[in-house]
Amino acid sequence: MLKSIRKEVLQANPGLVKYCLLIFTLASYIYACTQSQKEGAEIIPGIIWYDTEGNPINAHGGGIMYHEGTYYWYGEYKGDSTYRLEWVTTWECWRADAGGVSCYSSKDLLNWKFEGVVLPSTPHDTISDLHPSQVIERPKVIYNDKTKKFVMWMHIESPDYEKAHAGVAISDTPTGQFTYLGSFKPNGNDSRDQTVFKDDDGRAYHIYSSEWNKTLYIGLLNDEYTQHTGKYTRNFINLSREAPAVFRHEGKYYLISSGCTGWDPNVAECAVADSLLGEWQIIGNPCVGKDADSTFFAQSTFVLPVAGRKDTYIAMFDRWNKTNLIDSRYVWLPLTFKDGKPVIEWKDKWTLD
Ligand code: GAL
Repeated sequence: MLKSIRKEVLQANPGLVKYCLLIFTLASYIYACTQSQKEGAEIIPGIIWYDTEGNPINAHGGGIMYHEGTYYWYGEYKGDSTYRLEWVTTWECWRADAGGVSCYSSKDLLNWKFEGVVLPSTPHDTISDLHPSQVIERPKVIYNDKTKKFVMWMHIESPDYEKAHAGVAISDTPTGQFTYLGSFKPNGNDSRDQTVFKDDDGRAYHIYSSEWNKTLYIGLLNDEYTQHTGKYTRNFINLSREAPAVFRHEGKYYLISSGCTGWDPNVAECAVADSLLGEWQIIGNPCVGKDADSTFFAQSTFVLPVAGRKDTYIAMFDRWNKTNLIDSRYVWLPLTFKDGKPVIEWKDKWTLD
């Protein structure tokens, strides 16, 4: 019955039907836009986060650089299939192909536009550090005011994680493309999990797990931020800290790190120092409440001071899904101070206000 009515209407007035269809499509589009804005008003840790084009954000182990009013989020662009390297017998080596380093931009830290893979992997160059079979992890970018270059540091690995190199890339713009300069063992020793920190005086530091991850090194970079100066300190000796995230608050430096259990979560720890190359004092787990002992089933990657807001920090973590690495989730939580110590509490959802 319905079918025959539809047929009659169609035959009688095909223009009207087309018009209705157009109105319907437009209305659906407007509805979809308001929905994504509504969803983008809150930070919801642990669910899938979509970019402004509706694709899941693929920027793991990442960090954020704020530059001229825009936030740029750089992270590992993971390949979409996860496999375990059976020939690595000493630990559970779950891997996804290295897709390079992605970049997303945002003005409000909620709606993220995909800017592309700003340091792509090189599928045709089998001997390159950037071949998908290798490992590109924990990229971080800082801006050099003197050279006007954006400088990216990252962890470069062989598939079995035995290479332990730091890689460097530079670009004239935040959205790339970045030019890869190569990789090396800074100060002649391992470099695995890592971050970089640019201080207010313009000096920059590379913070990296070294000596088979047993000891965390902090090295002063040269004026271009592309190499080490040779000045470095050994910290948390034999305490096996990784996933370092550094920030500054009221003249002191804070370093959040994880223990060393591969993709599996463990307890975080915070340390404080008067200078980056100074003595670090361990002040305990910054996470509090339920699941604080497993860092809310996640691992630190970065702490972002929110621009223009005093004492407002976002602690960024990755909740790794080791058997489906691309589906690892982002856990961002507010970091506040209580009795002079950083405190991170779980929130099901929260806003920047
Ligand atoms: C973690 C590290 C990650 C990744 C992983 C590989 O300890 O923090 O970035 O390298 O090991 O298992």
